[in-house]
Amino acid sequence: MKDASQILKLLNSDTKMSVNGKKGDYNKYDVEDYIKEKNNQTFVYEEDNKILGVIICHFFTSYFYLGSIIVDKNFQRKGIGKKLVKYIETLAKKRGIRYVELITKIENIGMQNLLKKLNYKKGDKFFAYSKNFR
Ligand SMILES: CC(C)(COP(=O)(O)OP(=O)(O)OC[C@H]1O[C@@H](n2cnc3c(N)ncnc32)[C@H](O)[C@@H]1OP(=O)(O)O)[C@@H](O)C(=O)NCCC(=O)NCCS
Repeated sequence: MKDASQILKLLNSDTKMSVNGKKGDYNKYDVEDYIKEKNNQTFVYEEDNKILGVIICHFFTSYFYLGSIIVDKNFQRKGIGKKLVKYIETLAKKRGIRYVELITKIENIGMQNLLKKLNYKKGDKFFAYSKNFR
């Protein structure tokens, strides 16, 4: 839980992380849930006590959903994103899970290239919807 504020800052640092193109979608309570709740798995990549990457996955019985991944802008293209995805795949395999799904924006070429390198197959295209309740 000591990492929560660094994780929150990183998650809110890029519009590619949100459905509606705005920064700041994540709040500290959600991040606490990502860390605490049993079906959520959050891992960080850190160097010198600084969190440079975060991956958040949601595990189910037969598959996991890769909810979020982000690498600090100053440390991208150094293999950290790939390491995080491979790490979570290894963990899933140990649990007998052999399937993963995720979505990414059509314009997010960096993420798509990363996925291609790791042999992910492209699926159908979706529209993203969101709503603020009043
Ligand atoms: C997408 C993201 C997680 C990739 O992390 P990363 O640590 O930079 O990725 P890696 O260094 O492991 O890159 C692995 C491969 O992915 C591809 N790739 C990564 N970033 C790329 C970019 N900006 N443009 C083109 N290809 C890219 C490359 O093929 C790269 O291999 P190479 O460097 O040997 O050419 C990172 O760019 C990021 O945090 N982006 C903002 C948040 C985001 O978009 N998250 C995903 C939401 S679904």
